[in-house]
Amino acid sequence: MCGIIGYVGNQAAAPILLEGLQRLEYRGYDSAGIAVVEQGGELTINKSVGRLQALMGMVANHTLAGGIGIGHTRWATHGRPSNENAHPHLDCQGNIVVIHNGIVENYLELKHHLLAKGHIFTSETDTEVIVHLLEDDLPAGAGLTDAVAAVMGRIRGAQAIVAVSRLEPDRLVAARVGNAGGVVIGYGKGEMFLASDLPALLPHTRELVFLRDGDIATISAAGATYRRQDGSPLDYKPETVPYDLIAATKGNYRHFMLKEIMEQPESVLDTIRGRTWFEPPAVVLDDIGITREQIRALRRVVLIGMGTSLHAAMIGRLYMERIAGIPSEFDNASEFRYRAPLVDSETLIVAVAQSGETVDTLAGMEEAKRRGSPLIAICNMVGSQATRVADGVVYTRCGLEIGVASTKTLLGAITALYLLACYLGQERGAIDAAAMSKRLNDLARMPQLVGEALKLDEQCEQLAHEFATSRDFLFLGRGGNYPVALEGALKLKEISYIHAEGYPAGEMKHGPIALIDQEMPVVVIAPRDAVYEKTLANIEEVRARDGRVIAIGTQGDTTLTARADHVILVPAAPELLQPLVTLIPLQFLAYHIAVRRGCDVDQPRNLAKTVTVE
Ligand code: AGP
Repeated sequence: MCGIIGYVGNQAAAPILLEGLQRLEYRGYDSAGIAVVEQGGELTINKSVGRLQALMGMVANHTLAGGIGIGHTRWATHGRPSNENAHPHLDCQGNIVVIHNGIVENYLELKHHLLAKGHIFTSETDTEVIVHLLEDDLPAGAGLTDAVAAVMGRIRGAQAIVAVSRLEPDRLVAARVGNAGGVVIGYGKGEMFLASDLPALLPHTRELVFLRDGDIATISAAGATYRRQDGSPLDYKPETVPYDLIAATKGNYRHFMLKEIMEQPESVLDTIRGRTWFEPPAVVLDDIGITREQIRALRRVVLIGMGTSLHAAMIGRLYMERIAGIPSEFDNASEFRYRAPLVDSETLIVAVAQSGETVDTLAGMEEAKRRGSPLIAICNMVGSQATRVADGVVYTRCGLEIGVASTKTLLGAITALYLLACYLGQERGAIDAAAMSKRLNDLARMPQLVGEALKLDEQCEQLAHEFATSRDFLFLGRGGNYPVALEGALKLKEISYIHAEGYPAGEMKHGPIALIDQEMPVVVIAPRDAVYEKTLANIEEVRARDGRVIAIGTQGDTTLTARADHVILVPAAPELLQPLVTLIPLQFLAYHIAVRRGCDVDQPRNLAKTVTVE
C-alpha cells in the first residue's frame, strides 16, 4: 500500500526522501510526492502522478536545502491517481502537511463537518480530512503532537499518519492507529528517519523503534519522544535489526524475484538453524510464548493467512495433523475475522504473515485473542505488528523480500510450520524419539534438495517460450501439492497477468474439465507419493481432451515422461516436504513467462507488497 518516509537532520532532506521513495518502489504505487520545510520556514511541496522519475525530474528544477521533510508513494483507495490526490496534503492556511497510509472510514462525515466550517478541499482523498482537522486543533494552542493525538480520537479505521508544521519546523510527528501498516523510526547521529518499510531506512541505520497501535512519536534531529494517544509517556529504546543493505539490493540479478528464488536454500537452512537437535532428537523454539500445559490442553489448531501465506497455512494444516496429531483447519484471515469463529483457549491460532502487517491477518489475530485463544505468528519481519500481537513467534529468517511476488518467504514459512508441528508433537508427547529423529533428518536434507531444484531454471525458461502467449492455465495437485497448485496459479496471474486457476486434482472432473482443450496448458504436480496413481489418472483425463500437460514429477520417473507433453523432474524429497521442491519450477515458470511477456516482475500492476487496507 502507501509508502511513507520522513527525515529531520542537518542534511538536505529532499535527496534522502527521494532515495527512500525509490527504495519503496517495490510496494507499487500510482503517484508520489514530497514536502520540505525550507530554512526560512517556507513549505515546498512537489507531487507527480506515475513513476518516481517524474517527481525526481520536477524536484531537480528546485533548490531544496531544508533539513526536514516527508515523502509518500500513493496506492489509490479514495480518489483516482492524480496530482491533486497525491500526498502530501496541505491545510488551508499552508502551515501543515500530512502523509497517510490506511483509510479514514468516517471521512465523509468529517468532510461534511469541515466543509460546513469553511474548509476548502482540493482532493478527493480521505486523507485530506486529517490535515484540516489538525488545522482546526492547532489554533486552540495545541502543539502538533497534541493536535495529532486529538485527531486520532476523531478518525475511525486503521492508519499511519505523519505530519509536519512550518510553525514547529524542527519536528516530525508520526502516529499509528490500528493495524494499517507500520511506522518505523530510525536513529542516526544527529539526524532521524522514519519510514513505513525497512529498505528505506537501511542505508542510514539499523537502530529502530517500531510504533504500535495508539503510539505517537515526536521526532527531532536529536532523537524522539514517545507517548500514547491519552498522553501517557512511553520509554522506547531503539533495537538493532538484523537486516542489511546488501540484502535489499538486486546484486547481479535482473529482478529481485529471481534473486529471492535463488536464495531459497539459505532461507530454509537459516529457518532451521539452531532449532533442531539430534541427540536426543528435539526441536527448540525460543520465542514460542505458550506453556507446555497450554500445548497439552489444545484440542484444535486453526491456521490463518492471506494469499501466499494462506497457501503456507494450508500446508501447515497437514503438518499439524500428520506430525503433531492435532485436528487442524485453515482459514482465509479476512473470512475468519468476520465469521464469529468458534475458537477458545483450547484452540491454537497460527497466523502466517511474511510482513506481519497484513491488515486482515492482524484483525483475525485480534479476534482470536478476544476469544482467549493462544496465538503464534509465523513471520519474516522482526518487530512487525503480528509479532507483537502474538503470544509467540517462529521467525522465518529469510532476510528482506522485496519482490511483490512472495517466493523465499513461502519456503521459510513452510519450514517454520514443520518445525512448529514437530515442537507441538514433542511437547504433547505425540512423537517418539525415532519418529522425531526421522522428521528432523528429513528436514535437514531440504536445503540441499531445494538447491538442486534451482537447476531447473533453464528448463523452465525454455518452456516459458512455448507457453508465454497462453491465455489461461490450470494447475492441479493433491495433498500437500494442492496448495502448491494454488500457489503456482497465484504466481502466474500476479506477475504475468495470465488467467490461472489452481484446483485439487480430484476436483477437476466436477467442473474445470469443461475448460480443457488443445489451447489449455495444465500443470499437474505429480511427484511419487501416496496419491501418485490417482494423479496419473487425472493426467490421462486431461490428455483425452487434448489438454497440454506440463507434469512436475520426481527425478527418474519414466512413466510420467511418457504420459505428459512436458516433464519437469524435481529431486525426490520426503513426502511431507515435497512442496519445498515442487514449488520451485512453478516460481521459475511464472517468472520466465512474465519476463517474456515484458511484465514488470518486481512491481506487478495493482499489487502492493504489504496489504494494509481491507
Ligand atoms: C504473494 O505473492 C502475494 N504478494 C500476496 O498474496 C501475499 O502473500 C499476501 O498479501 C499476504 O502477505 P503477508 O504474508 O505479508 O501477510
